[in-house]
Amino acid sequence: MKKKIGLGTWSWGNKFFWNYKVSSDEELFETFSEALNQGFSFIDTADSYGTGSLSGRSEKLIGQFLQRVIKAKKNNIQIATKLAPYPWRIGRQGFSKPFKKSLNRLNNQLDIVQLHWSTEKYNPWQDFQLLHNLCDLIDEGFQFQIGLSNIGPKRLLKIIHFLKDKNKRVSSVQVQFSLLSPNNEKQKHIKKICDQNKIDFLAYSPLAFGILCQDPSITDTGKRSLLRNFIFQTYSKPTLELRNVMKEISNARSASLAQVALNWCFYQGVIPIVGLRKKKQVLDICNVFKWDLTQREFEMLETASKSCVKKLPDNPFSSL
Ligand SMILES: NC(=O)c1ccc[n+]([C@@H]2O[C@H](COP(=O)([O-])OP(=O)(O)OC[C@H]3O[C@@H](n4cnc5c(N)ncnc54)[C@H](OP(=O)(O)O)[C@@H]3O)[C@@H](O)[C@H]2O)c1
Repeated sequence: MKKKIGLGTWSWGNKFFWNYKVSSDEELFETFSEALNQGFSFIDTADSYGTGSLSGRSEKLIGQFLQRVIKAKKNNIQIATKLAPYPWRIGRQGFSKPFKKSLNRLNNQLDIVQLHWSTEKYNPWQDFQLLHNLCDLIDEGFQFQIGLSNIGPKRLLKIIHFLKDKNKRVSSVQVQFSLLSPNNEKQKHIKKICDQNKIDFLAYSPLAFGILCQDPSITDTGKRSLLRNFIFQTYSKPTLELRNVMKEISNARSASLAQVALNWCFYQGVIPIVGLRKKKQVLDICNVFKWDLTQREFEMLETASKSCVKKLPDNPFSSL
């Protein structure tokens, strides 16, 4: 399978977790532009990305950046947003306005619309109403594919059948998947269902917010938000052994830790969506196209991941 990387843009507009600053927008454009130069073909955003008054900022920036790149490059990329099933977005019209707002922010280029999380646990009827809404929009003439996120295998199967009845299909599923994500057995079950149904399986937070890129031999002095710093400190010791194994592989390959984490995804036929906001990070991770993990290296990582007792928390809205 050809390696494909998605550009993740959760941090674009997020002050609370990612310390976003408006002054970094030009650096984000350079990142975006380099990603397109390097052949990235998938950009992931969401209507909920951007904190407080910056709500929708990620989509807005992508829309502005799309206007600055040449048409040939635009035609090669898929733009995917996620619509949030907030409790007040109810009924078969719940997504109509948010969809049109996202389309507008994205300069009318929107190829995949994903249900951001499953409402199965709290208001289980809502998923189907909102998915019905997306089918209606397609029937009205809007052209996009339907994707899902934070979904479990049982719910995924239900939705596959629900959409089939409407002559539609699930095109992609994105869930948390990394060497540090919880429930990797559940995620592998989802991957199997995706393979059987020709659905793209997208791994979000493949670098565990950057924790997996921390060199185990260097004392961390990174400048981050208070929350992200706290998380890095909490995971520093429990992930040391895992990062040591990653470092052993990265040294032998003259590669970065980020490349090791992403090649672990590729070994399993998964498309990672990587959060990026610097051109040099795009250039670094593009080197994953040049090498693959051996079976032995993959097994070393699997063992180290399974032995790591402190995993990241699961998304509370994930369904069964
Ligand atoms: N569906 C969902 O509910 C959901 C949830 C979470 C994420 N996502 C999607 O998945 C995307 C990726 O996940 P994520 O943003 O949580 O985290 P991630 O991809 O696991 O980590 C991103 C961070 O890793 C660091 N990094 C990236 N490349 C690096 C490199 N080459 N060397 C060293 N450090 C590097 C950067 O930190 P610095 O910027 O500090 O340098 C970057 O912000 C998101 O942007 C979003 O599109 C979806």
